[in-house]
Amino acid sequence: MLLLGIETSCDDTATAVVRDGRAVLANVSTNQDAFHAKFGGIVPEIASRQHLALLSAAVQDALERAEVTLADLDGIAVTAGPGLIGSLVIGVASAKALAYATGKPLYGVNHLHGHIFAPFLELDADPDYPFLALLVSGGHSQLVHVASPIDLRVIGRTRDDAAGEAFDKTARLLGLPFPGGPGIERLAAGGDPAALAFPRHRAERGSLDMSFSGIKTAVRYFLESPAGRAARPQDVAASFQAAVVDVLVDRLARAAEQHPYRAAVLSGGVAANSALREACGAWSRRSGIPLLVPPPRYCTDNAAMIAAAADRQGDAARADARRLSANPNMPFTLAPAVV
Ligand code: KG4
Ligand code: ZN
Repeated sequence: MLLLGIETSCDDTATAVVRDGRAVLANVSTNQDAFHAKFGGIVPEIASRQHLALLSAAVQDALERAEVTLADLDGIAVTAGPGLIGSLVIGVASAKALAYATGKPLYGVNHLHGHIFAPFLELDADPDYPFLALLVSGGHSQLVHVASPIDLRVIGRTRDDAAGEAFDKTARLLGLPFPGGPGIERLAAGGDPAALAFPRHRAERGSLDMSFSGIKTAVRYFLESPAGRAARPQDVAASFQAAVVDVLVDRLARAAEQHPYRAAVLSGGVAANSALREACGAWSRRSGIPLLVPPPRYCTDNAAMIAAAADRQGDAARADARRLSANPNMPFTLAPAVV
């Protein structure tokens, strides 16, 4: 299947052309960070206006780079939720219009499912099912049991902030621009991860839940203390990052003890973090469970992953071009198709 992917759930205006859920013929993403940075976070109204201004050209751009036309496509895949309503609406309305005008099938994809299938882009084969997914983004941190492309169950989740949110909030405390993950990672590279002992969330026996707001709050109190004012920001960043990574790897390891998984994937924007990638890689070598991690361009929001999910989910993601609506609270579990 040759699919056009469209992703506008947050602040990246992204389009892609993907063949058979693997071969990425084009992957276009226009980052809006410059428009949101001065507000210290994403301004939903600005995000949707930018999507509206950028999306048509981004669709054209992806088709041209892939050297295909609308007529060559087998379908159009769009993120239907979860995300910011105003942002989602722009992508969904555009995809519906394209599907309606061309008569091509439309697929409404869950953004989080996109992240889970992103690691398979450009690979020759998928891992065996069931596999374990650790999904860490700005809005979500969860462990998912993936029994098949259409049977995905959340088995652990954050009780408060998402890991990416903790990076973004801590970056702000350190005076770094939004989004904070990349800035913390750069600062941490020159620091000592063992310099400061920020608290790690400990879950009850058998629980796969996680929490990151305690780490962030500990950093805030520390920075307000005399010791904190004297501390090197590099050490604060490295110690914060180490605490988040420890919690994530602990829950990943626990989840893998509960089921004989033959593979695990790490995905979402925070999966771009090299300390997390290294720690998960070390866990994989210890446990003998192969780990797939997408290159950073497929970790953060992109449209190739939306086409990858649609390709694998097929009819279960099919949507009616007259009826699909954006759903900011789209449930994680796939509902039966309504075509
Ligand atoms: O998946 P994503 O692009 O968007 C959402 O669906 O949320 O994830 C964005 C999140 C932001 O919180 C950002 O700070 C974080 O991913 N992030 C990182 C890194 N790159 C992006 N966090 C830590 N280290 C990074 N290198
Ligand atoms: Zn995302």
